[in-house]
Amino acid sequence: MLAAVSTAPVATTAGLGDGLYSAEQAARGAEAYRATCSSCHALDLHGNSNSPGLRGIGFLFIWEGRSLGELYTSIRTTMPQESPNSLTQGQYLDILAYILEQNGYPAGGADLANAPGELDTVVISAP
Ligand code: HEC
Repeated sequence: MLAAVSTAPVATTAGLGDGLYSAEQAARGAEAYRATCSSCHALDLHGNSNSPGLRGIGFLFIWEGRSLGELYTSIRTTMPQESPNSLTQGQYLDILAYILEQNGYPAGGADLANAPGELDTVVISAP
């Protein structure tokens, strides 16, 4: 029987080790990052004396144990600092994919998407 409305996805156990973004998406994210984020967070994501780094132990210190949804919302609602929420949702997701790639999480076959609630189920842990 065909259901008119698809059932809500069961809570997944997908983690960042499962390849939640695609390499193509991270490449797009790299472009967007260079254009809109690197002036403060540096091309290599290590930050500078005014802006926190977005990779490695500094990143994990802040984000380990929190969800990907929280990170996504935080970026979208506060960055770029001079004009928050100025990019498209797709661009923010691309940049998030790039940040994941640069932190050593593996790419997979599909783009990271902002399916309702889904990013909230992914807990950030060390790669
Ligand atoms: C004009 C400088 C500037 C630009 C451009 C900028 N940021 Fe930031 N960013 C900051 C500063 C300063 C902070 C720390 C204060 C804060 O959290 O608001 C920060 C904090 C962050 C944090 C939280 C870091 C943490 O670990 O607590 C993330 C993630 C982030 N920025 C991502 C981005 C992304 C992605 C972009 C591009 C879309 C971007 N930023 C553009 C200056 C900037």
